[in-house]
Amino acid sequence: NYPAQVRLVEVGPRDGLQNEKQPLPAAVKIELVQRLQAAGLREIEVTSYVSPKWVPQMADNHQVMAGIERRTGVRYSVLTPNLKGFEAALADRPDEIVVFGAASEAFSQKNINCSIAESMERFAPVVQAALAAGIAVRGAMSCTVGCPYEGEIPPERVEMLAGLMKAIGVQRVDVADTIGVGTPLKVQRAIEATCKHYEIDRVSGHFHDTYGQALSNTLAALQMGVWNFQSSVAGLGGCPYAKGATGNVATEDLVYLLHGMGIATGIDLDALVDAGTFISDALGRPTGSRVARALLAR
Ligand code: HMG
Ligand code: MG
Repeated sequence: NYPAQVRLVEVGPRDGLQNEKQPLPAAVKIELVQRLQAAGLREIEVTSYVSPKWVPQMADNHQVMAGIERRTGVRYSVLTPNLKGFEAALADRPDEIVVFGAASEAFSQKNINCSIAESMERFAPVVQAALAAGIAVRGAMSCTVGCPYEGEIPPERVEMLAGLMKAIGVQRVDVADTIGVGTPLKVQRAIEATCKHYEIDRVSGHFHDTYGQALSNTLAALQMGVWNFQSSVAGLGGCPYAKGATGNVATEDLVYLLHGMGIATGIDLDALVDAGTFISDALGRPTGSRVARALLAR
């Protein structure tokens, strides 16, 4: 019993590019967003308002947000770890902001330089301010199955984090397998734990493909009724604070899986492959999407 349609959040411009060592011109990022929305993506995570010392690639957040041609019906989201980030983002009128916490203390420290409890103190006023401004709020939950520093993460930690997110007013949450170590049953347990606090319609799957498990994990999540997923065109990405972790599942691969199952996404796969080719060429490397490689070889 699978959902009839799936909503995708394209995270390539943010999660995909944040780890790139070579500065990429803002114009390329803007063009990428343009191509993604032309391909039918209706939610795009554009950039983040974090410290440029920590993540130099996202330092052009204002430029990118100002440069994109906003379409009605498309939701543009951005990451904001604290009030400073939120205030900076506010000027650029995102439709949704994302606070990002972790189910692992060690990862929280490495990624955002504070404990899980402290992160909630920072997020709470951000969430309040966003909701007051009519901006939607999503919560990313990192390391929900495994952590690069702590190893396996039990579902109770995910349940706890989801409860904290709920308590501060976060409207929907991403169950993220930051380093791609998850397998279907573990991912299902993390989702189950999240569902102690959030209804399934408000839970999304954010799977990195480091161990090649992301599509299997997606199928496992679909079987639970999850119908929101995050992915990255061309399989771009990796988190700077999760060494060795590869990108999110490639959007092309995810769309191929879903369409093959008769699940609607509203996405034109050929146009999406073109967007993937555009950014792969800009980065000077082959696409990370198996589906794109297969289609381009026809
Ligand atoms: P901090 O050092 O604890 O912050 O960093 P602070 O408040 O002590 O400030 C220190 C300096 O940073 C000050 O500047 C602040 O102004 C500046 P200085 O006086 O030294 O010149 N600062 C900021 N600058 C710009 N924007 C801000 C901001 N806040 C403070 N918002 C902070 C805390 C969170 C800022 C830092 O740790 C940081 O930027 N971390 C980067 C986090 C990040 O972007 N990680 C990658 C995204 S998460 C991810 O990829 C996972 C996800 O995909 C899900 C998954 O797969 O798991 C979402
Ligand atoms: Mg991620």
